Amino acid sequence: MKRVLFVCLGNICRSPMAEGLMRAYSQEQGVPLVVDSAATSAWKVGNPPHLGTAKILRQAGIDMSGMRARQIRLEDWQKYDYIIPMDHENLADLESSAPAGHKAKVATYLSVVPGKEAQDVPDPWYTGDFNETRDLLQAGLPYWLSKFRDE
Ligand code: 4NP
Repeated sequence: MKRVLFVCLGNICRSPMAEGLMRAYSQEQGVPLVVDSAATSAWKVGNPPHLGTAKILRQAGIDMSGMRARQIRLEDWQKYDYIIPMDHENLADLESSAPAGHKAKVATYLSVVPGKEAQDVPDPWYTGDFNETRDLLQAGLPYWLSKFRDE
């Protein structure tokens, strides 16, 4: 079973949304996965998802009761097969802290989506647009799931 960690700056807007959407999608598709999310920063540690993300997950019928923001830890690099940052700033932060031999498992979320490979998932903390973020995350779900299934 593959283990997948989504990463963003605060772990309250984008990465918990990705976590919830991917967990629901993988269950729907019958592909067992371990899915979690974490922050590069310690700014929001202990907080539940932002109200805008909570609304999106609630609308999709996704349980978020256990979700609390946490910062990525050294042992995550051992535990997870895929570490998936939301933007290139998160990517640079992760690459600079990756233990030797683990950089290959890191790729930005949209890097697998045809036509959007170089784009970042916009941060609704700044844009205010949680629907735009949800739509981009949803676009990536099948591409990531087929990688998790086939690799
Ligand atoms: P996220 O959004 O990285 O998608 O969770 C943010 C959340 C909090 C802050 C910035 C971005 N902040 O500055 O506290």
